[in-house]
Formats: sequence, structure tokens, C-alpha cells
Amino acid sequence: MKKIEKLRICNWTLLFLSFLMLVSSVELELNPGGSCVWVWLHLGLGCLLTGFIFQHIGLHKNARGKSVLPENRHGHNLKGLGLLFLLTLISGIIAIFVWVGDYIHTTAGGIHGKIGFLFLCFLFFHVRKYNKFYRLPSSVS
Ligand code: HEM
Ligand code: HEM
Repeated sequence: MKKIEKLRICNWTLLFLSFLMLVSSVELELNPGGSCVWVWLHLGLGCLLTGFIFQHIGLHKNARGKSVLPENRHGHNLKGLGLLFLLTLISGIIAIFVWVGDYIHTTAGGIHGKIGFLFLCFLFFHVRKYNKFYRLPSSVS
């Protein structure tokens, strides 16, 4: 499969997973004392989203680490997006260790949730910037 086709599948999957992640996060935020099943679902989604994000970033790099697109349109938003994603991931991993065992909502989870929502805000602008990709299914930019 061509790299460009992989990117198309990856980006559509990311859009779907990001939407599910938003729903799952809002559910956890509004119902912190709810069933563990929601947190396990959130964890599963988090792992999937993380995997596809790494693939998405990987597909934008060639052997020399440059963007595969002819012109580079990286904005400042991208650095913030990457940093917030890493912070969400790290705080999420910490939240797992604190949560597993007692299975009750913790401060670590609360902090992680706030960072996660900030990441989703940056993601919104990232996707909006490249919305042409989703409106024109046959193009990549
Ligand atoms: C930490 C998370 C992410 C990072 C660091 C990231 C990084 C990038 C980079 C480097 C590009 C290429 C920009 C260029 O060369 O001009 C790009 C493009 C794009 N990204 Fe992301 N991205 C992330 C998450 C996402 C997610 C979750 C989605 C979908 C919901 C998404 C959708 C897109 C789209 C549609 C494009 C334009 C088409 C393409 O080149 O693939 N990105 N992103
Ligand atoms: C887009 C990415 C993510 C967003 C927006 C997000 C958001 C949230 C939110 C809003 C909560 C509820 C916090 C609260 O009740 O105050 C939460 C809980 C949690 N998240 Fe995430 N999350 C994301 C990714 C992840 C990832 C990648 C992991 C694991 C590596 C993870 C692990 C957890 C855990 C274990 C909890 C339960 C913690 C607790 O209630 O104490 N999350 N997340």
C-alpha cells in the first residue's frame, strides 16, 4: 500500500477516534464515580489513539526526518499540539498507576483530564487547519 493511502486511512481513523475520545472524556468528567468499565474503555481508546498518532507522525517523515509533503506548513500550533499530547500521555500513564487498585477517581486523573481537554482544543485547530483533507477525500492536503 502506498504511503499516501496509509495516510488517508490513518487520518480518517484518527478523526473517528478523536471524536470517541472526546465523548469518553466528557463522560468521565461528568460522572467521576461511575463504573470502572468507562475508564477501561477510555484506556483502550487512549492506547488506540496514541498508536495512530505515532503512525500519523511517522508517515509525515521521510528518511531524513522531513515532511513528505512538498511544502511545509507546520505552524506554532504543531509544537504545542505535540507537547500537550506527550503531557496527556505521561499524565494518563501516571493516572493508571494511581487509579488501578482502588479504582476511585484521583487528583492525578483530574489534572490529566484538564491537560487532555487542552490537547483536544489544540487538536481542533490542527484539524480545522487541514479540513480540506476531509472535504476532498481524493487529496491529502
Ligand atoms: C500529537 C498529535 C499530532 C501531531 C504532532 C500531528 C502532526 C501533523 C503533521 C506534522 C502534519 C503535516 C503538516 C505539514 O507537513 O504541513 C499533520 C497533518 C495533518 N494532520 Fe496531524 N498531527 C497530530 C494529530 C492529528 C489528529 C489526531 C488528526 C485527526 C483527528 C490529525 C489530522 C491531520 C490532517 C487531516 C493533516 C493534513 C493531511 C496530512 O498531511 O495528513 N492530526 N499533522
Ligand atoms: C485525547 C486524549 C485524552 C483525553 C482528552 C483524556 C481525558 C480524560 C478525562 C477528562 C478524564 C476524567 C478525569 C476526571 O474525572 O476529572 C480522564 C481520565 C483518565 N484517563 Fe484520560 N484522556 C486522554 C488520554 C488518555 C490516555 C492516553 C491514557 C492512558 C495512557 C489515559 C488514562 C486515563 C485514566 C487512567 C483515567 C482515570 C483517572 C481517574 O479517574 O482518576 N487517558 N481522561
